[in-house]
Amino acid sequence: MKQWLIDTGTVMHGVFGDPVKHSKSPAMHNRAFRELGLNAAYAAFHVTPDRLKAAVEGIRALGFRGVNVTIPHKLDVMNYLDEIEESAQAIGAVNTIVNDNGKLTGYNTDGIGYVRSLKEEAGFDVKGKKVLMLGAGGAARGVAYALAKEGAAAVYIANRTEAKAVELADMIGSMTVSAGISYGQLKEVQDQVDLVVHNTSVGMHPNVDEVLIDTSWFHEGLTVSDLIYNPPVTRLLREAQARGAKTHGGLGMFIYQGVYAFEYWTSLPAPVDAMREAVLEAFRSEAGRS
Ligand code: ATR
Repeated sequence: MKQWLIDTGTVMHGVFGDPVKHSKSPAMHNRAFRELGLNAAYAAFHVTPDRLKAAVEGIRALGFRGVNVTIPHKLDVMNYLDEIEESAQAIGAVNTIVNDNGKLTGYNTDGIGYVRSLKEEAGFDVKGKKVLMLGAGGAARGVAYALAKEGAAAVYIANRTEAKAVELADMIGSMTVSAGISYGQLKEVQDQVDLVVHNTSVGMHPNVDEVLIDTSWFHEGLTVSDLIYNPPVTRLLREAQARGAKTHGGLGMFIYQGVYAFEYWTSLPAPVDAMREAVLEAFRSEAGRS
């Protein structure tokens, strides 16, 4: 591999977040640039909400090719862009900005990243399948939209606050059969579904012993997917494995949202394996430090 230098021709990229210190995106994207021998670089920028507008102006002023935006900016950033791609508009959040000679377009690669990860990593093709989503928060919106767009036969959404589940079901109602339900109504749909997607924070580190629902109905024909990636195997996934279901962890969604962003910026196929390796290495070195 040739020596990697930042010079006057380097094409800049970055992530804006608050906090952003633990982001694995720089490790992932810089590895991808190096892998393909591109003169490009990616850094993390701690941008507070009051500076977001100026930071977005900075993308234009400094000629960055692309930026990811993360918590808490995914909604507010939409106010400062020139164009918002249709799916990002429907989802109501942007996580990727592409700069075409000063024109900034916002995309959402979280949901499509999730669907691609499901296909590549769990061999699960959403087309014609029935899905049960648990949770209706910000992450769930992108996932629900992408599942519907990909041709899911039905998307049922259960949420503690049922009104939010109904609202999300309405958002995708023109694309697929959908319904918002309470956890008490799970029995009405559980026997029909092929895939369960968990979108809440229940079971996330440090509360690793928590599980959102009773999993005694999980079975061999089911795929269970958890958006949580810390821990890599949640209690929900352990219980799914014990009942013979196929499982899919949350790290893939992070990697593939980055894969799509990389492909939008470079128009080149992303080196997925190298990107995954870089993310895993970043987690290992972080664990080693703490
Ligand atoms: P994110 O952007 O990560 O999805 P969010 O928008 O705050 O975060 O959404 C969190 C989701 O987890 C919601 O579906 C939330 O349910 P409510 O809409 O009823 O708040 C769900 N959630 C969080 N803690 C929960 C708990 N203890 N039990 C059930 N659901 C929970």
